Amino acid sequence: MELLAIVGSLRKRSYNLRLAHTVRERFADRFTLQIADIGSLPFFNEDLEESPPEAVEQFRGQIARADGVFIITPEYNWSVPGVLKNAIDWASRGSRPLIGKPVMVMGVSNGVVGTLRSQLHMREILASAGVRAAVLPPAGNEVLIRTGGDKFDGEKGLLADEDTLAFIDRKVGSFLGFIEDAAVPSGLK
Ligand code: FNR
Repeated sequence: MELLAIVGSLRKRSYNLRLAHTVRERFADRFTLQIADIGSLPFFNEDLEESPPEAVEQFRGQIARADGVFIITPEYNWSVPGVLKNAIDWASRGSRPLIGKPVMVMGVSNGVVGTLRSQLHMREILASAGVRAAVLPPAGNEVLIRTGGDKFDGEKGLLADEDTLAFIDRKVGSFLGFIEDAAVPSGLK
């Protein structure tokens, strides 16, 4: 299985990026995980749509090839970071590769509600006309990680808190089951 992570922070030491690396390492025997380079995408501009920049085509191709997509994002000012919204706006046009794509939303932030507000906004965006992703239902599957840095290993930088890791294992496991169910043609269910 080949999955893609879209990470909403461009910061080198980003906790959300480190969560993506943690998932990649822990599930190496179940799937490969690419991390999209959304920092290379230009600002969305309808004038660029006729001949989209190479980075846009690459990004759309990565989504199209993936069996499922993780969106792993911090919360900025009670919403999704602009860089992530920009990436989704590009994906919502042209070949619109997110339509019907299994998506799981996760996030790490230092606020008391650990990205809840940004995830709620993200789910609205994922339901919009050009996106219409097949989002893992939130009930029982919300991954809202609150950190002051204490849950992450100081050296390797990966998530290290055992309880949180066990929780992540269960929720990502649910997503893999969701992808497999989604792959069954609906007439055969
Ligand atoms: C934040 N942060 C933040 N946290 C939160 O829980 N709710 C919020 O609304 C905001 N707003 C916000 C705005 C901006 C511009 C910044 C830079 C930060 C803090 C944020 O959760 C923290 O910096 C995370 O560590 C960012 O994620 P990464 O970069 O570590 O992945």
